[in-house]
Amino acid sequence: MLSLPDFEAAARRVLPRPIFGYVAGAAEDNRAHDDNRRAFDELAFVPRVLCNVAHRQQQVSLFGTTYASPFGIAPMGIAALSAYRGDIVLARAAAQAQIPAVLSGSSLIALETVMAEAPGTWFQAYLPGTNERIDALLRRVAAAGVQTLVITVDIPVAGNRENNLRAGFSTPLRPGVRLAWDGLTRPRWLLGTLLQTLARHGMPHFENSFADRGAPILSSRVQRDFAERDHFDWTHIARIRRQWKGALVIKGILSPLDAAQAHRHGVDGIIVSNHGGRQLDSAVAPLRVLPAIVERAGDMTVMLDGGIRRGADVLKAMALGARAVFVGRPFNYAAAVDGEAGVAVAIDLLRAEIDRNLAMLGLTSLDDLGPQYLFNHRAPHP
Ligand code: FNR
Repeated sequence: MLSLPDFEAAARRVLPRPIFGYVAGAAEDNRAHDDNRRAFDELAFVPRVLCNVAHRQQQVSLFGTTYASPFGIAPMGIAALSAYRGDIVLARAAAQAQIPAVLSGSSLIALETVMAEAPGTWFQAYLPGTNERIDALLRRVAAAGVQTLVITVDIPVAGNRENNLRAGFSTPLRPGVRLAWDGLTRPRWLLGTLLQTLARHGMPHFENSFADRGAPILSSRVQRDFAERDHFDWTHIARIRRQWKGALVIKGILSPLDAAQAHRHGVDGIIVSNHGGRQLDSAVAPLRVLPAIVERAGDMTVMLDGGIRRGADVLKAMALGARAVFVGRPFNYAAAVDGEAGVAVAIDLLRAEIDRNLAMLGLTSLDDLGPQYLFNHRAPHP
């Protein structure tokens, strides 16, 4: 494994086709997904030289905590289907490497269990149906010791994931000959999944999905999760802000106008994101709107995810004003390939790329990055 993309090829071999398809897939024609990468590719670096870069550091401080690197692990639902105890694997590897990890609200492992294993983990929630449920959510999350709550807002309805169906993945999961064959030819994956299923005395279910808590992923009750999400608006965020004393982050902002709204509502941070291209296809790539969002974000901490695969991508996003970034799929693949050790390798690779590139840019600190280090092939340049 020499780079993050190597984990994708390896994960394709170890995961059943429907599971790999679920992780790799995006919405409709993959336009948003593909443009996430293209947006990074269109930017080149303009390095400075002879800068004495002997003492480099890549720490960042987010909501009062200092992290060793400016990237974290994005929330990914049902990660425990990719790797044995996947959510714990991701959270522990992140804690060990001193980077943030965000536990998904659609995970198969209970929030409290993950927090016990990795106490600094951030928690991502989808807004549950009613005010009573929102209040219950906040009570449970606070009781579990969560300090940073991420509310994902780009799923008013489920995205159109034709790719899932083509790959044979669906919720409810449909066991069949194909899945059985994939499982038998991937014994490591099968063993992990069986162990988890036995350990919980039944089929896995969404542990932290507050809209329909405990809905088995083999049940159509999961679909109802989505039915309730389309009525949420900023009044719900205002309510949460009044009650939640920890850091509040909104994930899934793409419009500068919404960034300004979030700021007006006292939100502490935003993750500029199109959900890795998995929701609205043709949604703009986060990197393209980042500068305009930073302008409207006031003192909020602006972060970004989508398409980051190299240290160079991390630095490009930061040069355009992101304070930190999140990476999704590659860490899921790394967990599938070699559990916690795999994720640790992936983190180290990205960290080393950032350090190396920082030196070649002529920088010792991320604070000195700025747009003057970038050249856009497509934009007129002075
Ligand atoms: C996701 N994403 C996601 N986001 C979220 O807020 N809650 C969730 O439960 C999930 N679930 C999920 C599952 C899987 C398998 C993937 C790949 C993604 C989106 C995720 O947090 C992030 O926005 C993107 O994955 C970032 O894009 P990259 O790094 O995967 O290109």
